[in-house]
Amino acid sequence: MVEQNWDPTQYLRFTDERLRPALDLLAQVPLDAPASVVDLGCGPGNVTAILRQRFPAAQLLGVDGSAAMLEKARAAVPEARFIEGDFATWAPDGPAPDLIYSNAALHWVGGHAALFPRLVSLLEPGGVLAVQMPAMHNAPLRALQYSVAADGPWAEALRGVGSAPPVLEPGDYWDLLRPHVAALDIWETTYLHVLKGEDAVGEWASGSSLRPFLDRLPPEMRPAFRQAYAEAVRPHYPRRADGTTLLPFRRLFLLARA
Ligand SMILES: C[S@@+](CC[C@H](N)C(=O)[O-])C[C@H]1O[C@@H](n2cnc3c(N)ncnc32)[C@H](O)[C@@H]1O
Repeated sequence: MVEQNWDPTQYLRFTDERLRPALDLLAQVPLDAPASVVDLGCGPGNVTAILRQRFPAAQLLGVDGSAAMLEKARAAVPEARFIEGDFATWAPDGPAPDLIYSNAALHWVGGHAALFPRLVSLLEPGGVLAVQMPAMHNAPLRALQYSVAADGPWAEALRGVGSAPPVLEPGDYWDLLRPHVAALDIWETTYLHVLKGEDAVGEWASGSSLRPFLDRLPPEMRPAFRQAYAEAVRPHYPRRADGTTLLPFRRLFLLARA
């Protein structure tokens, strides 16, 4: 598991941009009244709250590995049950779920060749696995995290630190899941996130993929590292004439019906 120390406040700074793909995924879920719904990697619970609205009669369970995120989630959706768990090992402790929904979470772990078929196997027959994951491993946003980490006074401290591993290609998920499911729908969308502020891309990354690097650094080194990252990404994501910064963000969506 990638070393992670989530800061819900920083993550929630871009709520609108991070929510839209969650809603786009939910809009495609072909279920009317599932009895049991799991929000896998529920984070601070803002998407769990939307699952609650869409499926008010469902038993709703949020699963996450971060105690800080779970604390926020419990406050956001008191009607749901929340437990600490790891994607690699979590399994329902009650009836099989009709929906396992996971937004912007499963890309944090590797081992998808085993994980995705395992998640499908946990579903009630006819149940749905619905997943959205960033697919940004080749984008400057992510690639520059490694090059900046390797080149500076922090290089020794950051040796071996990694962020989310690359997700697989869409066809790989097809080959993995098709033998196990009744129906499969996979698609990609590149969003053009419109960010505001001097260091918008750095701020975005600091709430997610840059976290493992920042967490490993001694606090006194963090400002210089953040500054070096901000300078490295700036030419790739220049500010527009209206002051905004455009961040093209590729995301992979997957709906598998057991
Ligand atoms: C980017 S947040 C997404 C939160 C929420 N789903 C949303 O859409 O806003 C990713 C979440 O995945 C959780 N996570 C990452 N790796 C995990 C693992 N191996 N097991 C359980 N949770 C994990 C993190 O704690 C974090 O809350």
